[in-house]
Amino acid sequence: MELLIVKDYDELSRKAAEIVADELKSNPRIVLGLPTGATPLGMYRELIEMYKEGKISFKDVITFNLDEYEGLSKEDPNSYYRFMNDNFFSHIDIKEENTNIPDGMAVDIERECREYEDKIAKSGGIDFMILGIGNNGHIGFNEPAEFFPGFTHRVKLAESTIQANSRFFDSIDHVPRYALTMGIKSIMHSKKIMLLASGKAKAEAIKGALQGPITPKLPASVLQLHRHLIVIVDEEAGALLE
Ligand code: F6R
Repeated sequence: MELLIVKDYDELSRKAAEIVADELKSNPRIVLGLPTGATPLGMYRELIEMYKEGKISFKDVITFNLDEYEGLSKEDPNSYYRFMNDNFFSHIDIKEENTNIPDGMAVDIERECREYEDKIAKSGGIDFMILGIGNNGHIGFNEPAEFFPGFTHRVKLAESTIQANSRFFDSIDHVPRYALTMGIKSIMHSKKIMLLASGKAKAEAIKGALQGPITPKLPASVLQLHRHLIVIVDEEAGALLE
């Protein structure tokens, strides 16, 4: 594991973007796994800047997002589809057909999950997966559980996740209770993984994930088993690390 402890969120965003840009330059047809949420926003902004300055291009890049809320349409301002378009895809030269996000409105959710997984496999698998981490240690929407879930699946969100994510919604009642998410196997099959965490609310999850026992009760702890893991935390998120 390569651990980088940086000063603050801005430095984390710059460092993360630099690493993605280097990966992209060495493989212009890279398959990226992407997160939503507050953590990667700065990294997306930095990557957009680099694109505008002509330093990188996404024209042959393929992306797979980690997750999507069940029941939110592509137009819904809180859907991850909208999030990705508003915050990243619409500002770069990526081809729309090369961007993939699970369909939260699929009539047959199980089929959607199977097909999503097939599509990842057909693209040759994920080369570089970028992850945030929940306050409870979730990655994607793999919530603390008694076992590690396998491939893309439907999940009931933990109360703490509903609470944490309600900051993006008008009211907590509007936060969907279910989501579609890549599973732990989908994530662990990625060739490289980069985990990002910022702020003191993440300090305990980061401590457990990197230095605690490997347990599905803290899903991110499984990342200790990955052979090519980069972790970038700012000083607050890394405050409890030894
Ligand atoms: C989002 C995702 C989640 C977030 C996590 C942290 O696609 O997969 O695991 O990365 O909930 O969210 P933020 O960055 O908002 O703290």
